[in-house]
Amino acid sequence: MTQSADQVRRATCGELTLDAAGQVVDLRGWVHATRDHGGLLFVDLRDRFGVTQIVFDPHSLPQASELRSEDVVAVTGVVRRRPTGTENPKLATGAIEVGAQSLTVLNRSKTPPFPIRGDVEVDESLRLRYRYLDLRRPAMQRAIALRHRVVKAVRDYLDAQGFLEIETPMLIKQTPEGARDFVVPSRLHPGLFYALPQSPQLFKQLLMVAGFHRYFQIARCFRDEDTRADRQPEFTQIDVEMSFPTQDDVMTVMEGTMAAVFREALGVELTTPFVRLSHAQAQAEYGTDKPDLRFGMRLCDLSPAFAGTEFKIFAAALAAGQAIIGWAEPGGAARSRRDFDALTAAAMERGAAGLAWVALGSDGVKSSLPKVALGEETLARLRSLTGAGDGDAVYMLAGERTATQTLAGNMRLHIAQLRGLRDPKTFAFCWVVDFPLFERDPETHALMPAHHPFTAPAPGSESLSGDPLALRAQHYDLVLNGTELGSGSIRIHDPQLQRRIFELLGYTAQQVEERFGFLLEAFAYGAPPHGGIALGVDRIVALMLGTDSIRDTIAFPKNQRFQDVMIGAPGPVEPAALRELHLRIDVPPRAQT
Ligand code: AMO
Repeated sequence: MTQSADQVRRATCGELTLDAAGQVVDLRGWVHATRDHGGLLFVDLRDRFGVTQIVFDPHSLPQASELRSEDVVAVTGVVRRRPTGTENPKLATGAIEVGAQSLTVLNRSKTPPFPIRGDVEVDESLRLRYRYLDLRRPAMQRAIALRHRVVKAVRDYLDAQGFLEIETPMLIKQTPEGARDFVVPSRLHPGLFYALPQSPQLFKQLLMVAGFHRYFQIARCFRDEDTRADRQPEFTQIDVEMSFPTQDDVMTVMEGTMAAVFREALGVELTTPFVRLSHAQAQAEYGTDKPDLRFGMRLCDLSPAFAGTEFKIFAAALAAGQAIIGWAEPGGAARSRRDFDALTAAAMERGAAGLAWVALGSDGVKSSLPKVALGEETLARLRSLTGAGDGDAVYMLAGERTATQTLAGNMRLHIAQLRGLRDPKTFAFCWVVDFPLFERDPETHALMPAHHPFTAPAPGSESLSGDPLALRAQHYDLVLNGTELGSGSIRIHDPQLQRRIFELLGYTAQQVEERFGFLLEAFAYGAPPHGGIALGVDRIVALMLGTDSIRDTIAFPKNQRFQDVMIGAPGPVEPAALRELHLRIDVPPRAQT
């Protein structure tokens, strides 16, 4: 029986249900799986929307027997109820099958280097080499679709709040965002280079000077940084700037944005406003400026519990002005000595001299500390300072305060990981506020901005007098589950104050003029007070997916060596292009690979 074209309905592989029974449909997609069942051939046909079971009678359609995984086909056939007992309730189309009437092979596929079906573990270099096949796999299809929904929710929400999306240029000049720039040679201006933007920072500030009031952009940024799982040389920000805002105004808009994103893209309701912690509190209680608030085990200063201790190591640390940082692990007293030894080894791998522990078991107290260290009074103070009760363990590390807090914060995360407390389906947001304005470069000891040089000092720090490291900034970070999602600040809009910050950072007047003259000039024409923030899209999507690697959220990411192994980038350029650019390569040939 042949059908006229208008009786045949084009359908996706994810939409047919019993409602369509009896209809003649035209389906197109990839051969997902084939099964030969006693004379009938079953083919699962796949597209982005789902999988539909097609049943072929190889007598009438002999080419069906030659179908192989990932061949691309067009099938027409009749939708019919699956025989009782063969339905698949896990599949949206699981109640029906399509009895094939015609088959056209649109293209054949070689055997893929890894299975497309299922979520099989595949070596990442192979996945990246054949990214177009990797992207066909269900996990990547889900990730890319989620990313789309995230970005759409951002656009819809910010649009409704009166923000305009404005593009800013990709070919700019070097700006200080803390990383190295990627540079692009100019043919028309031999010897001169553009830099790719590390962020649209200065342009969004200029858009405020230009009166746009509320700007956002889903902005591509480029940074030549050292590689890490949560870094890519090109990545995407939700970049926002507002005129006349308070710090709270920016935070409220971003809380609304995140709530909309999680609601629309994931169906999760977030509680706003998010928790706020000062930078100092985050360091003292979590040993980091990116605290993971999905679980407790807050750090505390146990030095007072050991004042006058006879335990030599702690006494020496306290005498040297160092601190004893501790935390309680609920239920930790149940750990075996081997467990405690393993935790001690883990602390030492992270740079600790050792890890002291006390198990407050119901059958008595056990500890790595000698008896002299743990009098009744000390134990009572350990309990009251850490909040530990019977059945819990208390851990202690002694050393220089900040470094020891950081180490203790690491161990807190390690123990939480072991106990499965870092649940990827729980989303614990917080703001970290009240940052210092400056910090010292750990290597050169030079003064550098804690955020960037355009960040306004906090009220009380505007005079910039006194110890520069004691100055505070109007800078806020958004943190989710121990990951920094974004940073922002109220900006300087006074050209004089901006000049003084540059001076403090060691720029000469000439450097300031060359690099930032345009910004200072713009500020002289009625720049409104302004502030904003940028959140990393890749990191947001990675946390929503529960993956550690932002590469899993990007259609075509670079590998850990910042290469695209599929297209072979970076790669050499034609000698003619180099000549035109007046560039000569001065690298021994082998080092270029
Ligand atoms: P910042 O440099 O803190 O601020 O960047 C903001 C956020 O962008 C993301 N991010 C990255 N994601 C992936 N790979 C990278 N290499 C990478 N670098 C940064 C992070 C980070 O929190 N202009 C300022 C913002 C502002 O002040 O408005 C800025 O770019 O999620």
